[in-house]
Amino acid sequence: MNNPRYEESTNFLKLAEKLIPLGSQTFSKSRTQYPVGISPLYVDRAKGCCTWDIDGNKYIDLVSSLASITLGYQNRQVNRAIRKQLKTGTIFSLPGKLEFEVAEKIVNLVPSAEQVRFGKNGTDATSAAIRLARAVTGRQVIAVCGYHGWQDWYIGSTSRNKGVPGVVSDLTKSFGFNNLESVKEIFEQNPGNVAAVILEPMNLSWPEANFLEEVRALCTKQGSVLIFDETITGFRFSKGGAQELFGVLPDLTTLGKGIANGFPLSAVVGKREIMTEMNEIFFSGTFGGELLSLAAANEVLAQHLENKVVPKLYEAGESLSNVTQEALENNHLSEVLELSGHPTWRFLNWKDHESASALEIKTYFMQECFKEGILVLGAHNVTTAHSRNIIERIGHKYSQIFFRLSQSLENNALKSRLEVAPLQPLFKVR
Ligand SMILES: Cc1ncc(COP(=O)(O)O)c(C=O)c1O
Repeated sequence: MNNPRYEESTNFLKLAEKLIPLGSQTFSKSRTQYPVGISPLYVDRAKGCCTWDIDGNKYIDLVSSLASITLGYQNRQVNRAIRKQLKTGTIFSLPGKLEFEVAEKIVNLVPSAEQVRFGKNGTDATSAAIRLARAVTGRQVIAVCGYHGWQDWYIGSTSRNKGVPGVVSDLTKSFGFNNLESVKEIFEQNPGNVAAVILEPMNLSWPEANFLEEVRALCTKQGSVLIFDETITGFRFSKGGAQELFGVLPDLTTLGKGIANGFPLSAVVGKREIMTEMNEIFFSGTFGGELLSLAAANEVLAQHLENKVVPKLYEAGESLSNVTQEALENNHLSEVLELSGHPTWRFLNWKDHESASALEIKTYFMQECFKEGILVLGAHNVTTAHSRNIIERIGHKYSQIFFRLSQSLENNALKSRLEVAPLQPLFKVR
């Protein structure tokens, strides 16, 4: 049964899928994540921390375009920078000076950055970093932990590896976060052949027992390149990223998402002695120096240099966690939903309950959040536009939603209150 609230979205999906496989360019924005019939599926516009779907429903947006927005949608200063850039051009036949200006800001912000190359998606940056690591070490094996994008070298190591040659997948080995033994094992099983260890310096869990320091030491000892994938943590966990927060410096870092507040820009940065090898490998794209994204980044990074962004992200993230935790405790749901991760990128981890599975509970939660005008998926991706007032409103809405969730679980009624089939298990990357 389709909820009339999402009629336009539901109908448009059918139309879109005639021309666009999955009806979306991005897996995490597709119907695989949003149960059809109870979810908004297409967005018309967004401003600040709010999003309007094509049915005209308004939401407080906690997805923040998969954490690519840090200053809120349509940030005034960023828009001003873009308009100014439009007057001189969006791309030229030769590089513009802006590439240097933005690179200089990144070098000033990110502790391990000595040189910079730009790409568009996070995947460009991670794949370039891997090629670079293989080039400088002359080795082949890559140790991975977390999500690193859609290219063969990484996605071949997941269960969604259709289309990736086995010879490529075989070169990528996964290890567990905070599991130093699993990293050591990869080194032991591939002596002298580990080109790089790439990991998100933090996602669901905080690093424990000097994990990052130990991995750093291991890479140095083994002559492997340590890559921090800071596509999300960069310009979010601190103005210099997770490496600044934890005081551990990688050889290479990949950046993306929030670097340009929603404009397509990514970067691979790192030590000069390694980055220089970029002159010898091939990492090149027509739009690498596209100027609207660089103009956006120039403004975003200027705000970071003045330390105007991260403290606000922390404040929003911490107060949102507090109101969420309070609503959970008041409704005796702490065993069903556990919050984890960093305040600025906090994960919602659903657990099975005796009367419903974790996926059924998550589906019900999404159904009720969407009705209440909250757009949320698996994490709270806060922005500086999530004001105190907005967080209070979310807390109020969560109190009502968690009350209904708790009642439904207690009365063994959750399944009957689900208006569509629950979400299906998807391949897990974290
Ligand atoms: C940590 C991390 N690395 C890499 C990527 C890939 O970035 P993109 O989707 O922009 O290619 C993502 C995207 O979610 C990510 O979260």
